[in-house]
Amino acid sequence: MSANVINGKEIVSAYRADIKQHVEKLKEQGITPGLAVVIVGDDPASHVYVRNKAKACEEAGMLSEVHKLPESTPESEVLALIGKLNADSRIHGILVQSPLPKHISEERVVEAIAVDKDVDCFHPVNVGNLMIGKEGPSPCTPAGVIEVLKKIGVEIAGKHAVVVGRSNIVGKPMAILFLREHATVTVCHSRTPNMEEITRQADILVVAVGKAKLIRRQHVKPGAVVIDVGMNRLETGKLAGDVDFDDVVDVAGHITPVPGTVGPMTITILLRNTLEAAQKTAS
Ligand code: GUN
Repeated sequence: MSANVINGKEIVSAYRADIKQHVEKLKEQGITPGLAVVIVGDDPASHVYVRNKAKACEEAGMLSEVHKLPESTPESEVLALIGKLNADSRIHGILVQSPLPKHISEERVVEAIAVDKDVDCFHPVNVGNLMIGKEGPSPCTPAGVIEVLKKIGVEIAGKHAVVVGRSNIVGKPMAILFLREHATVTVCHSRTPNMEEITRQADILVVAVGKAKLIRRQHVKPGAVVIDVGMNRLETGKLAGDVDFDDVVDVAGHITPVPGTVGPMTITILLRNTLEAAQKTAS
């Protein structure tokens, strides 16, 4: 039996249409949600991501501002720009595209962003609030995964969710969101021995490690939901996820294609966070 290949396009376009309506309502009150994206250097993949974020913003009727800085920009200049954006009432969300050049501290940059404008949910205050279940922005990729699961009707409560990867951007916040949804959660990583024994227990398997085709059929329980967060450029120039799609597709119950679902859904949550940050400024 072949898995249901999750149709990200349908899910994403319905979600974005809803966001657009809310943006229009807010504009009637004189507030246009605004997102500022800062990118330093010329990493081609990062430039593609930033372009996609700006385009999605414009399509949703939001203000989009991209600040492209050269690789050699001193940290003090990046911090000064963030200071200006923090004080700019047209801007409700600030995102500094990662990775930054080595001479710039990601930690100092993220901590400089106003907590209320941190639409990535990277600021330590927002990460702490996430941990204790307080209101705040959603971590974009993990929240996008939860929304996809809900949209396709997957029950999360009581299920065993296994997350492969422990990054601050995906693995760790993904585990927290699954706990919030009442799943039993296991996190695997590069030091986990016999990983397939654990991943084979997953009702829901989320993979975010950045290793092309790491997950093969022997890692997957028949009928499991497999969400692939990986985005790897192969030597052939083609994109591949962390899951070997062709090998897993007839074992899984549901599977996400790469590219096409998690990436666009991540941007959709970014739009939602920006909209909500703007809504909070309305009285
Ligand atoms: N680089 C890769 N993913 C992300 C993301 O979600 N946000 C930011 N700021 N940088 C990234």
